[in-house]
Amino acid sequence: MFDCHCHILPGIDDGSKNVQMSLKMLDMEVRQGVEGVIFTPHFYADMNSPETFLRRRERALQELEANLSLLPRVPKYISGSEVHYFRGMSRAEGIESLCIGNSNYILLEMPFRDWQPQFIDEVEEISDVLGLRVIIAHIERYLDQDRRLVNRILENPDFLIQCNAEFFIERTKPALNLMKTGRIDLLGSDSHNLEHRRPNLADAVQIMQKKDKKGALDHIYRVSRQIFAAAT
Ligand SMILES: [Fe+2]
Repeated sequence: MFDCHCHILPGIDDGSKNVQMSLKMLDMEVRQGVEGVIFTPHFYADMNSPETFLRRRERALQELEANLSLLPRVPKYISGSEVHYFRGMSRAEGIESLCIGNSNYILLEMPFRDWQPQFIDEVEEISDVLGLRVIIAHIERYLDQDRRLVNRILENPDFLIQCNAEFFIERTKPALNLMKTGRIDLLGSDSHNLEHRRPNLADAVQIMQKKDKKGALDHIYRVSRQIFAAAT
């Protein structure tokens, strides 16, 4: 399994505070059977330019890499980002540089305030105009938004849908219902630390396995591998 959304890089956002914590988080991932991790620190356009963000991300990655030999096993990893939605982002300079590795997949965090039709128009433009493959981060956080707008996301095959492990652990029934529609493409721990937001993919997968009659986990595995292949 692959963790496609996490905040394990040290000292770059509200995730791991230092390299020791990052190493422990990565070790937890490996022990849970995670073979690949995508590092997705938060990108907020009002706080950093893409260039500044990428410089900071590179520094955090180098610091982690300098210490990876302390781990008995290291999963495959790639750098990406969790880009917070902003108006005009489909025309903003440097947005493509925030994609996962060398791929054109981009993890997008939608706004938490009430969705407007323009939000979805903008996301469609990221896909149609920029030609990026949009991954909607933790869709479960938006299921109470205006249903017509949520459906414009769920029914558009150009968008990939990511769920957090926590959805299966804390809201098992709706999570399994979404899984049964075959619409979950990727999983993430969205882990930030070693306590209440720790790496937890294995617990979710265990819950999914018991009810997975239609190959939902196989599909997630396939899509994750495709992204890793495209990104490296
Ligand atoms: Fe996140």
